[in-house]
Amino acid sequence: MKDWPFPRHIAHRGAGKLAPENTLAAFRHGASFGYRMFEFDVKLSADGEPVLMHDATLDRTTTGSGRVDAMTLGELAALDAGGWHSPAYAGEPVPTLVAIARYTQANGFMVNIEIKPVPGTEYRTGAAVALDALTLWKHAAVPPLLSSFSEEALEAAHKVAPGLPRALLLDKLPPDWLERLRRLECVALDANHSELDAAVIGAAHAAGFKVLCYTVNDPARAQDLLDWGLDGLITDAVDQIRPQP
Ligand code: G3P
Ligand code: MG
Repeated sequence: MKDWPFPRHIAHRGAGKLAPENTLAAFRHGASFGYRMFEFDVKLSADGEPVLMHDATLDRTTTGSGRVDAMTLGELAALDAGGWHSPAYAGEPVPTLVAIARYTQANGFMVNIEIKPVPGTEYRTGAAVALDALTLWKHAAVPPLLSSFSEEALEAAHKVAPGLPRALLLDKLPPDWLERLRRLECVALDANHSELDAAVIGAAHAAGFKVLCYTVNDPARAQDLLDWGLDGLITDAVDQIRPQP
């Protein structure tokens, strides 16, 4: 991997809110606005298969209900993950990490895999997702960037796939945020954008870390962050914030 091969603009959950989050349809929609990197959320099914889903439960974004990890991949395949958004997307399936690996690599797109374990499955999810990412992106020019709010998941990912780049997600910056990045051997901080300013970005850079942030939907705020040297901006507003080449 070259020092930092990722573009500065990253589509959140595929295409933000313009299409059903974490579906292939959303990725295609985000790509239609010129986005070349995608953030998405991954957790495990009951039979240990990585699938794209933000919430721990199925209720908000599918026709199913209950915990995601209570259903096998076969059971998840029967759900509609698009109709909740709008009729145009009815019937859209829950994607597997395998499907996303195929789609993104066939199109030369890059990925930020957010490991989002169902509570209580942090280590297992971190290890399984990282191991699958290692295999699925084995021939890719650019590896997936792994990220997580769960330090346990990042530790597991490091153990099984030490060569894959990792970012620590932080909603609030604790006083020891730099020490945490060092301890987890992350390459980047990935913070709530409201925690960032020129000084924080400068401090991360001075310590050798890149900086990403979520979820920036105001173009003026995006420009400020980029002017301060931000390395990766995760946005829902793929129709308003133009990706740079
Ligand atoms: O990965 C950044 C961002 O997606 C974290 O928040 O809740 O949208 O997964 P959330
Ligand atoms: Mg996410």
